[in-house]
Amino acid sequence: MEIKVLDSVKDTPCEVLVINKFQDEKTSQELANTFAVEKDGFEGKFGQTYLLHTLGKIPADKILIVGFGKKEEFDANKMRLAVSKAVKKLQQIHAKNACFDFDVNCDYGKSAAIGALIADYAFDKYKTEKATRVEEITFAKFSEKDVREGIIFGEAMKFTRDLANEPAEYATPSKLAEIASNLDGITTKVYDKEEIERMGMGAYLAVGKGSAQAPKFIHMKYCGKNPKKKLAIIGKGICFDSGGLDIKPASSMLTMRDDMSGAACVLGVMRALSSLEPDIEVHGIIAACENMPSGTSYKPGDILRAKNGKTIEVDNTDAEGRLTLADALCYACELGVDEVIDIATLTGACVVALGTNVSGIMGNDEDLISTLIRVAESSGEKFWELPMYPEYKDSLKSDIADMKNTGSRQGGASIAGVFLKEFVNGPKWAHIDIAGTAFLEKPQGEFISGSTGAGVRTILNYIKSV
Ligand code: BES
Ligand code: MN
Ligand code: ZN
Repeated sequence: MEIKVLDSVKDTPCEVLVINKFQDEKTSQELANTFAVEKDGFEGKFGQTYLLHTLGKIPADKILIVGFGKKEEFDANKMRLAVSKAVKKLQQIHAKNACFDFDVNCDYGKSAAIGALIADYAFDKYKTEKATRVEEITFAKFSEKDVREGIIFGEAMKFTRDLANEPAEYATPSKLAEIASNLDGITTKVYDKEEIERMGMGAYLAVGKGSAQAPKFIHMKYCGKNPKKKLAIIGKGICFDSGGLDIKPASSMLTMRDDMSGAACVLGVMRALSSLEPDIEVHGIIAACENMPSGTSYKPGDILRAKNGKTIEVDNTDAEGRLTLADALCYACELGVDEVIDIATLTGACVVALGTNVSGIMGNDEDLISTLIRVAESSGEKFWELPMYPEYKDSLKSDIADMKNTGSRQGGASIAGVFLKEFVNGPKWAHIDIAGTAFLEKPQGEFISGSTGAGVRTILNYIKSV
């Protein structure tokens, strides 16, 4: 989809002119007021749509009216949803181009562009029959700059969604390393198995042992002009999570190609930085591998030594994400960064607790956590803080090592959080659990099923805000 901006679309010929209607107000188009509002009683409740033919009375063939709901309740998030809704309607009627002329605050250009690109998304690479797409849309009134930024965000999300939707056979650790090595404006170092061994990452290495795919530890770096802060973002990069020897049942394994959604998010964010040019130093880190059962797999009862010297008894090979993150966290802390954010499809318990609309967040710094929650809200995502009381550590007690990798099923998301905390030394840290939000089994809101690009918008906005 191509997105353009014009001051006015009054005289622009197009297939569909998209306008809005607030409840209890008229629209900007006479025709719409006469036919849709007065004759048919179209109210304009949020998300309602109404399509009418113009019979040549204006330069557009049709008018699509989108309900904006109550004026005082309208905001940037509603703008994103409304534009998504309109684009889906345009797809349904096979419209190839449209002009959007909304009678609203002109600062909503970024949300509008993001909404259009989220709705435009389809993963149809492997389909013979491609999805129906709107080829071109033109926004009136919004600033070019806001829309451009929305396009950067929308394209970052698309990149992340594509990568997480790809089969594990395609998105291997080596593939992630290759992608990371080819990003504009980013310097990348990829460590192979021997180097990972030399760095002492015994927890991460154990997870990948059963796989035919070699592990790749990926370190990307972006450096802005006058960096105000050093930030590390770590994405869980399990390219396929079969559970390992503690193998998952078939139904739980079905979507486990999504277990690198955190890594895909970090790659999407890093890729966008050279266009956004924020004044910050960002390290993107991915400990990529597959969790597979085989004769060379790590086993329950094994004792692993992480990079910081702490020992871990393997209680369950399916709690692999935290083992890879443990070593990645140690690595990030050694870089001397001010803040570390990790993002991971970490626990089924988080999905049970918060569902598929809300990601869990925890960490060691209330300011960082509350800032991220606030940025998420204004970015159109939802983060909810989960507790990290020291009592959660009790269930990780081991008789033979410093800790086990799993404890009780109850409170599983928090237990994973306190496990990770053992590997954070120095920086402010936040952990985002996107197990429920990264990948949808059925459509939800503006998203089709599959990957959502969870975390991309929020992390980009957070980086921009420093
Ligand atoms: N990748 C899974 C978590 C997950 C579950 C992600 C559902 C997306 C959707 C993780 O590695 C895992 O298997 N966690 C286990 C931990 C348990 C063994 C303590 C879980 O949540 O069941
Ligand atoms: Mn697992
Ligand atoms: Zn996993």
